Amino acid sequence: MNPQATPRYDRLSQAFHWLTAIVVTIAFILGPGGFGRLMHEGVDPATRIDIVWHESLGILVLVLTLLRLLWVAFRPAAPQFEMSGPMHMASKLGHIVLWLLLLALPVTALLALGSEDHPLTLLGGVRVDHMPWIADSAIAELADWGDVHGFLGDTIMWLAGVHAAAAIFHHVFLKDGVLRAMLPGRK
Ligand code: HEM
Ligand code: HEM
Repeated sequence: MNPQATPRYDRLSQAFHWLTAIVVTIAFILGPGGFGRLMHEGVDPATRIDIVWHESLGILVLVLTLLRLLWVAFRPAAPQFEMSGPMHMASKLGHIVLWLLLLALPVTALLALGSEDHPLTLLGGVRVDHMPWIADSAIAELADWGDVHGFLGDTIMWLAGVHAAAAIFHHVFLKDGVLRAMLPGRK
């Protein structure tokens, strides 16, 4: 372990973590069911506040995740805890999959919109009506990206639930400071 390491994540990593967790949860709650039907009926998604917020928060998740990954490259070493090999592996794997989902969710959403030629509609009246670089690419045909995106949205919430339960298990039963490491407080 790096002698500089502290038993807590630095403040910026904590802020990124909790802000992302809140934004992902709200975006999930606003996940637009029946989106395909609405588009089929000719509804302009810009007139649906739930869709506009969902897409804006989702894009915010992408921005936060890219900034956060940049910070991970430069930040002080993350705290390390004594734990069994399999538990350490499970924790590492869980984090990697969460990181991948945080990136895959916005990407699959853009693929879903671009391949069906639906507009991206964000807060402040920002909209992108066509994404020809997606519509014209072979990747658009590879899958029903709306279904893939919805499935990944459900998956991140399940995984985040297991991840949160694991953190609480560490706190209550193992009493090893893993949860405290992500909570604000003195180092
Ligand atoms: C953390 C980020 C996100 C989460 C957790 C998330 C979650 C979800 C979920 C669970 C659904 C399915 C809802 C249902 O069928 O009831 C959904 C649908 C959708 N989301 Fe997201 N989403 C995220 C980011 C985004 C972004 C960035 C955009 C736009 C750029 C977006 C656009 C859409 C659209 C258009 C649908 C409807 C897809 C379809 O049915 O064809 N989402 N989202
Ligand atoms: C959508 C919700 C969540 C997502 C996407 C998420 C994602 C992540 C990621 C990517 C990391 C690695 C952080 C880094 O290296 O900077 C992490 C760490 C952590 N998360 Fe979450 N998290 C979520 C919710 C929660 C909740 C609700 C709790 C607690 C109840 C929690 C507790 C922790 C703890 C304690 C760590 C540090 C674990 C360690 O160092 O082994 N997370 N989380």
